[in-house]
Amino acid sequence: MRPVLFLLVGIATAGYAHDPITTKLTWTREISRIVQRRCLQCHREGGSAPMPLVTYEQARPWAVAIAEQVLERQMPPWDAVKGFGDFKHDLSLSQEEVQQIADWVAGGAPAGDPAYLPAAPSEPPTLPPVPLAGRTLKVANSLRLERDAVVTAIRPDAIHEEASVRVIARRPDGSIEPMLWLRNYRSKFARAFEYRQPLRLPAGTVVQVVPADAGSLTLFLMSSTITKR
Ligand code: HEC
Repeated sequence: MRPVLFLLVGIATAGYAHDPITTKLTWTREISRIVQRRCLQCHREGGSAPMPLVTYEQARPWAVAIAEQVLERQMPPWDAVKGFGDFKHDLSLSQEEVQQIADWVAGGAPAGDPAYLPAAPSEPPTLPPVPLAGRTLKVANSLRLERDAVVTAIRPDAIHEEASVRVIARRPDGSIEPMLWLRNYRSKFARAFEYRQPLRLPAGTVVQVVPADAGSLTLFLMSSTITKR
């Protein structure tokens, strides 16, 4: 066992100088731009994440972990499954961005020509606040709407750690609105999800949490004057 371990440690610490470069993707051209858009909200000096990923030198030692985290959709932390509900400020990566990061790392994670490096953002990127005003409704298990409602946002409140939970709305006409699908929910990254287009749900709609015992969520509603327009 011992010599093998030694060898592995040797490879890991010998560093990446010897990794053959087998990709045309580079930090300066493609990857830094993705990281700037999707990671620096937290991965910068003074951000909430433990390490900055602003420069190539900072990011390169994390390359393998970065590929793992984005392939498993652990990072950026956005536990809502894409395509189930359509949200503003969606932090998650597109499939193409995930693939580019994975291919860049598999290909030796090269730096590239500094000439292509994007300008640093003038303001450090921040996470947009979700404006949570108006009436709210708590949903646990299921809830039948007594009145027409326009739902602007949904927030997990007491969802079990690492649970996968779907929230759907069944309108009286039988149509189904996918509202939110959390996968491997992590409370430390809890946030409200704001709909790009507020959801119009007529009276009689049943909002359902699946599985029913997964926990509770809060719906944020637009004020009734706007509902009537
Ligand atoms: C909303 C804030 C936030 C955003 C955005 C974010 N991260 Fe993170 N990241 C964290 C936090 C906080 C941790 C610390 C680990 C934890 O608490 O689970 C972390 C940890 C990591 C780790 C280390 C995981 C390990 O092995 O311990 C990697 C790699 C990582 N992030 C990559 C990324 C990448 C790449 C992006 C962008 C595509 C990104 N993160 C976006 C907050 C964020």
